[in-house]
Amino acid sequence: MKAIVLQELNQPFQLKEVAIPEISQNEVLVKIKSAALNHRDVWIQKGQYGGIRFPVILGSDGSGIVEKVFDTENEKWIGKEVLINPSMNWGNNPRVQSKEYVILGTPVDGTFAEYVKVEARLLHNKPEHLNFEQAAALPLAGLTAWRATMTRAAVKNGENVLITGIGGGVALLCMQFAIAAGCHVYVTSGSDEKIECAVKMGVKAGVNYKKANWDKELKNLSAGFDAIVDSSGGETFSKLVDIAKPSCRIAMYGATLGEFNSGIPAKIFWKQLDILGSTMGNDDEFVNMINFVNTHKIIPVVDSVYSFNQAQSALEKMSKGEQFGKIILAVDL
Ligand SMILES: NC(=O)c1ccc[n+]([C@@H]2O[C@H](COP(=O)([O-])OP(=O)(O)OC[C@H]3O[C@@H](n4cnc5c(N)ncnc54)[C@H](OP(=O)(O)O)[C@@H]3O)[C@@H](O)[C@H]2O)c1
Repeated sequence: MKAIVLQELNQPFQLKEVAIPEISQNEVLVKIKSAALNHRDVWIQKGQYGGIRFPVILGSDGSGIVEKVFDTENEKWIGKEVLINPSMNWGNNPRVQSKEYVILGTPVDGTFAEYVKVEARLLHNKPEHLNFEQAAALPLAGLTAWRATMTRAAVKNGENVLITGIGGGVALLCMQFAIAAGCHVYVTSGSDEKIECAVKMGVKAGVNYKKANWDKELKNLSAGFDAIVDSSGGETFSKLVDIAKPSCRIAMYGATLGEFNSGIPAKIFWKQLDILGSTMGNDDEFVNMINFVNTHKIIPVVDSVYSFNQAQSALEKMSKGEQFGKIILAVDL
């Protein structure tokens, strides 16, 4: 089969011919139709991620058709259109993942291939209102967005909610979930065009974080926030603390800009803020996320679709932050 292989750190992807995976007990073989990139793939290629091994087939997101199963009780899946939950071995505690927790696509081979093997329990029916490309855009970003926005920040109807860096695949799904939950959603972005697109999708307003006083402008527009969902960290964080209303919940699922600056602890305790870390999500959250997507007919935003042999260009686009939504790799292109 064709697969996009990362041979070593800081090297471009290579499209190679490799063996189709052999399945064993509890496993199924999925013929991939579409896969999606995540920022994780950029971090892995640069060596800025734990548990990397080589060579590896990256890819945490996939949609496709079940081709083969090992166990007779899984025969019901054969021929079904599915998407794959990339969150493996979460464990029994819904609040935190177990030590065995891994994400599909490192260290285990992932979806940037014509076939992937996964445990049958990770399969979910593809939502009928989504095509294969839109379905591939959903699993990792949707699960991360669901836990950060709906479980951890627990946004409610009528609240003011800020989602930062709206061009991101996860951020857009946070926005779509919060709008569907009845929140007044505001955004930041480094691009005025991306803010315009978000406003067309239902956000109240947005401010470009490259402006000197973006935080003050946002506070004037919104009168502050009941909840904030952020993946930037770094210098941005203290400004988020400033524009949070007293008792605001700030959920963080990433640290694109690195470490926090100083000067924030006093504001955190005086304003009674909740700072909530969030990573991926448990199996129940995945089911709840898919149900919500089906109920509200949410369609993940697809920025662009690349063929497998353009995978390196697709990754470079993500690395430069040029996208609005998910970047997809399609097997049949
Ligand atoms: N914990 C988890 O489980 C988990 C899961 C998924 C992702 N993540 C992390 O979350 C981050 C986003 O992931 P992704 O896959 O959605 O990436 P992505 O699609 O590549 O989006 C990254 C976005 O970051 C935004 N950004 C860049 N500089 C910023 C700044 N100064 N202030 C605010 N936003 C800024 C950009 O938004 P604009 O284009 O609008 O400027 C960019 O689109 C990454 O750090 C990733 O590793 C964590």
